[in-house]
Amino acid sequence: MNDDRTHQDLRERVALVTGGTSGIGLATACALAARGADVVLCGRDPARGRAALEQVRGGGRASFVAADVTDEEQVVALVDTVVREHGRLDIAFNNAANREALTSSGAFTDMSLAEFFAHARAEPGSGHGRGPPGQRGAL
Ligand SMILES: NC(=O)c1ccc[n+]([C@@H]2O[C@H](COP(=O)([O-])OP(=O)(O)OC[C@H]3O[C@@H](n4cnc5c(N)ncnc54)[C@H](OP(=O)(O)O)[C@@H]3O)[C@@H](O)[C@H]2O)c1
Repeated sequence: MNDDRTHQDLRERVALVTGGTSGIGLATACALAARGADVVLCGRDPARGRAALEQVRGGGRASFVAADVTDEEQVVALVDTVVREHGRLDIAFNNAANREALTSSGAFTDMSLAEFFAHARAEPGSGHGRGPPGQRGAL
């Protein structure tokens, strides 16, 4: 039986996965690609990016854009690059976090609000909703 919640057709959708070159992000990128999405992986290390792209198989295109999500200018440039090259951005999996900002155990229950925002801040700030009107995805 086909379950629409787990077998969504993502052809012609564009997905950005930060921290997409390893672990949870890479597994998510593979799952999105397997459903037909064009997937853009983001990480800091281009060599890791190239190695990760070897593992992403699907009906859409897979590419890598280097960016450090702790730097807002790089995040805005990342989103601009995705929209320029694909014309749209439908799915953003903001998976990469700033591990260097961790001062506690890393469990959310142990974090102060300031530590939480320093660690988890990985959203594209002023880059929200970029793209031509009518083609904007949700971030
Ligand atoms: N695994 C767990 O048990 C667990 C538990 C709680 C939360 N998390 C969170 O879930 C996320 C993924 O975890 P994981 O275990 O899959 O991590 P991982 O295997 O260590 O992979 C981290 C990924 O993020 C990239 N990355 C790290 N810092 C970055 C930065 N500043 N800008 C852009 N990319 C960056 C890495 O590539 P580069 O190094 O090349 O940049 C890599 O692709 C992380 O945010 C982690 O904090 C994981």
